[in-house]
Amino acid sequence: MGPITSVFDLETMARKRLPAVIFDYVHGGAGMELTLQRNEDDLCALALRQHDMRDVSHRTMAVKMVGEPAEIPLAIGPTGLAGLTWANGEVEAARAAEQFGVPFCLSTMSICSIEDVAEATSRPFWFQLYLMKDRKVNENLIHRAHAAGCSALILTLDLHVQGKRWADAKNGLSVPPRLTLHNTMDILSHPRWLVGMARSRRRTFGNLQGEVQQAKHLSALTQWIESQFDPSFDLETVKWVRKTWDRKLILKGIMHVDDARLAVDAGADAIIVSNHGGRQLDGAPSSISVLPEIADVVRDRIEVFFDGGIRTGGDIVKALGCGAHACLSGRAWLYGLAAHGREGVLCALRLLREELSDTMALTGLSNLQDMDPDLVAMRPEHIR
Ligand code: FNR
Repeated sequence: MGPITSVFDLETMARKRLPAVIFDYVHGGAGMELTLQRNEDDLCALALRQHDMRDVSHRTMAVKMVGEPAEIPLAIGPTGLAGLTWANGEVEAARAAEQFGVPFCLSTMSICSIEDVAEATSRPFWFQLYLMKDRKVNENLIHRAHAAGCSALILTLDLHVQGKRWADAKNGLSVPPRLTLHNTMDILSHPRWLVGMARSRRRTFGNLQGEVQQAKHLSALTQWIESQFDPSFDLETVKWVRKTWDRKLILKGIMHVDDARLAVDAGADAIIVSNHGGRQLDGAPSSISVLPEIADVVRDRIEVFFDGGIRTGGDIVKALGCGAHACLSGRAWLYGLAAHGREGVLCALRLLREELSDTMALTGLSNLQDMDPDLVAMRPEHIR
């Protein structure tokens, strides 16, 4: 393969390097993948308007996200099982984020633990929490994130039950991967991945390994976790987390103005307009299509972040043009990690920074705070 020119090249490399069971997990979405597709299509359907008679020799891209400095308006978003794409994947990604200068968020469902990441980095990171039925587990996780110096907690709201990802069900995805004849052939035909995995410090959910002791009646950790997602989760639960966690709180999975208002009232410091990258409610609108109405209502009172479909620096400009203060990335950095480990994540971040900088120059933007209100326009053929 020639030079890496975009995140799409990293995706191609990830597809080659990973066994299908892992690549499909990263790449796929829920059900018919309608929402997954909408996220990308609707970003593509936006056009950028340019102003050509402005001096853009100095362009400022740095922002703060809930007080954390970010070289570009982007954080590494939480993704489960990143450590199955590269040995010690979450630690490698956190190191890349630290080196580049953007916030890193560790998922509850990661392979490396909160303590592994804390030990490997010196910049405070964020922790993402899935609420479990067992309150003790939640309290423990919150306590461990606090003790590790995490500066923000991202509470994910959109997982009352897990979205059905058909490919994962067909592939028999489990943690650690279950060895069927099909998986074994698949894995054996990816020896570089296999050798890499042999160097992994952990092979299962690092944050929850200890908790399974409490669930002795179930043999598999994966099964126990699935049974632990809490469908009774509601506003009161959010308030409980707000009381329990005294640092920055970010609510992830906001797709409705009503929920954005509730988030403000519940004392959140920021929200993430997100449909979980099309992995939960299949049929939900794209997150970019609901961003403007949500940002209009709450962005003066709370920081509004966005995720879903960010693959280029131009996408970041579009999201900011639609009212976001900053974005999070899921698959883009994961493709980098799967392709090349820490270097791959850095590569993804550098590509996004370069594209962001070029897009700013070509639209006539020196400063992200001075965005023209008409910077982003819907291409006429896409107006619905
Ligand atoms: C995710 N996402 C996610 N979100 C979360 O709150 N906790 C998690 O553990 C995970 N796990 C996860 C795994 C994988 C493989 C992916 C792709 C995504 C959702 C993620 O944080 C984010 O919302 C989306 O990935 C954003 O969409 P893009 O950037 O992937 O298009």
